[in-house]
Amino acid sequence: MNLWEIKQNNYNRKENKKKETIFTLANGYRGLRGFNEFSNYGWKGNFIAGIYDKSEAQIQEIVNNPDPLAIKFYINGEKINLDEGRIIKYERNLNMKKAVLNTNFELELESGKIVEVFSERFVSKNNLHRWGAKYQIKPKNFSGKLVIENIIDGTVTNSANDPYNEVRHYYVEKMKDLKPGISLRTVTKDKKISVVESTTIRCFRESENLLTNRKFVVLGEQVKELYELNIKENQVYTIYKYGVTFTSRDNISNLDEFTEKELNNFAFVGYEDELKKHIEQWDKIWENIDIEIKGDEKAQLGIRFNVFHLVSCANKDDPRVSIPAKGLHGEGYKGHIFWDTEIYMLPFFIYTQPETAKSLLLYRYNTSDGARKNAMLNGYKGTQFAWESTDDGLETTPKWGKDYLGDPVRIWTGDEEIHITADVAFAYWDYFRATNDEQFMIDYGAEIFFETAKFWESRVEYNYQKDRYEIKGVIGPDEFHEHVNNNAYTNYMAKWNLSKAFEISKLLKEKDPIKYERLCVDLGLSEKDFIRWNNISDKIYIPRYNGTKLIEQFEGYFNLKDYIITEWDKNRMPVWPKGVELDKLNKTQLVKQADVVMLLLLLEDEFDDETKKINYEYYEKRTMHKSSLSPSMYSIMGLKVGDTHNAYEYFIKTVMTDLEDNQGNSEYGLHAASTGGSWQCVVFGFGGLSVDEEGVLNFKPWLPEQWEELSFKVTWRGAKLKVDILRDKIIFLSDQNLKIKVFSEDCGLEQYKPFEYKF
Ligand code: BGC
Repeated sequence: MNLWEIKQNNYNRKENKKKETIFTLANGYRGLRGFNEFSNYGWKGNFIAGIYDKSEAQIQEIVNNPDPLAIKFYINGEKINLDEGRIIKYERNLNMKKAVLNTNFELELESGKIVEVFSERFVSKNNLHRWGAKYQIKPKNFSGKLVIENIIDGTVTNSANDPYNEVRHYYVEKMKDLKPGISLRTVTKDKKISVVESTTIRCFRESENLLTNRKFVVLGEQVKELYELNIKENQVYTIYKYGVTFTSRDNISNLDEFTEKELNNFAFVGYEDELKKHIEQWDKIWENIDIEIKGDEKAQLGIRFNVFHLVSCANKDDPRVSIPAKGLHGEGYKGHIFWDTEIYMLPFFIYTQPETAKSLLLYRYNTSDGARKNAMLNGYKGTQFAWESTDDGLETTPKWGKDYLGDPVRIWTGDEEIHITADVAFAYWDYFRATNDEQFMIDYGAEIFFETAKFWESRVEYNYQKDRYEIKGVIGPDEFHEHVNNNAYTNYMAKWNLSKAFEISKLLKEKDPIKYERLCVDLGLSEKDFIRWNNISDKIYIPRYNGTKLIEQFEGYFNLKDYIITEWDKNRMPVWPKGVELDKLNKTQLVKQADVVMLLLLLEDEFDDETKKINYEYYEKRTMHKSSLSPSMYSIMGLKVGDTHNAYEYFIKTVMTDLEDNQGNSEYGLHAASTGGSWQCVVFGFGGLSVDEEGVLNFKPWLPEQWEELSFKVTWRGAKLKVDILRDKIIFLSDQNLKIKVFSEDCGLEQYKPFEYKF
């Protein structure tokens, strides 16, 4: 088994949509779903990070742009199409090491002609505007005429499978003959963002151009160029398709001409050259992010799949964009950005690609005007980050959706799931803690902390009778319960946010008094505010069960009807306990996803081991994992409290989320949070990495029985650290002197000198 490859050995058109998600190629600038150009069935997707539009849709959503991948091959008038011919051999294969997708097959056409096709595609990581495809066609039992139709399809819509919501977010402005090559320029309806897709094909044998009889065609909103090619039995013909994309967001002055020039450059340089550079870039990426798990092929392949797609979604060089909940892999959740990025995905970037983490954090800073507006519109101060965000930070959660019976249902998360504001602040802290990047904290983080603290100050309510601050009418991470008071996660994160803002005000004053003074004037703050925030923080109420260490998820939770999960389905997912009414989940103690447990993980040094254990045990029996964000957190906490068996199961569930489609909705896009959760399971869970209150890196690993070795790399305060965990020892190798703790023992690592810790 090649542990770098995701394979599909049988073609089944019913599976096309979910396979497209798995076979998506993205480079952070854009994502191209793994549409199979030899089939009629699927869900085309060409998403460019940061391009959102509302037009006739309910709410702004990521735009599904024209399809530049389209290409058709005809042999003496018969189309090479998997849905029509007899498939003799079929294999689709995503090589994650190289970030290359192959589709190879042998097909007998209705006429009896047999053709072999080897095709390859990549979305360049070397030059984010380029993508390419290669087709090798071999007539096995005939000679004849091959007609190639190179197409850009400007008819692509969003929600193509949902007639009531289908919408096209752009107008086609121009279709151009590039002689050779074609281009199609669109402009989005509301924001007037122009996108130019361009493509051209080449087929040479030695120095002979085999493409003849070119014709340029405009057919409605499709632009095409046609070529003919005489093909001889048993010879292989290689056709290269080049694609270049630019948009008005790329800040270039003459979009059409520039794109055309770039297309010509790409075709001149050649496919193989660009592919080589693309693979070199991916080699560098893997150098830092790869995780090796020896002794468990499923886990090995699974974790690579997750980090591959996660890293594909980010663009270090564009701080105006962040990663949507479904990656650049599908239209699910309308391409919106949730807490998923900061809490689930970001740790991977912080510890493997801190520069990319910085860019993702800057997205929040750069959209904080929208977040300020959210607070203002809701009657609060400071910044209130949107539960669902697009390119401007404004709240974009739809107000209405459909329940599982298809009936309209009011969505309250945009109004009430306010913990996101503290989650963003936490992410800035998480980055700072791991990088020690004081300048970034001074330049951006401090403002985020002050503005979010302002929000919380205006959002909390003082209860005079009980002398405490409360937060009412919220939804915590568990979305089964709406309009609750004093959700422990939200309250604790707000409390933390306020006291951290106080701490950071002191840091800023000490490190950069001028900036401190300027920021105070700019934001209308003074030392008194910081002190008051700290005092409010001290008095924020955290509900607990009768003074025990069992945290009450929200006030009144323990009075709800109690159901315990006792059955699991074949995927080891919990089955609804008998008697539960699905439209009255809010009346039960069943929980959608990690909530209290999530809090205990994020702020782990604020809670003792006993608290973690008691709460894990209580909530684990009541958590339905109806979100892919949940199992990973239970895996990590399970390892911390000694529930190792379940930890492994939860981990496998997490890495297999899309590979096995265990949430049943992979066709809508990648479960991007769960890809981050997978990485966290390995590094924070099995690798046992944590940061203690003194800011020292700790390791307390535990390996599942069949794992012979687990290796990964992390970046910690500028040092690169390689960690190899074996059954009887751990080997550390750092490129700088570093103090760490292993099973609470102090260890000093010397630069480039392997350090062995024996169990
Ligand atoms: C989860 C949220 C998550 C969202 C997007 C929901 O089902 O409950 O926590 O942010 O999906 O992934």
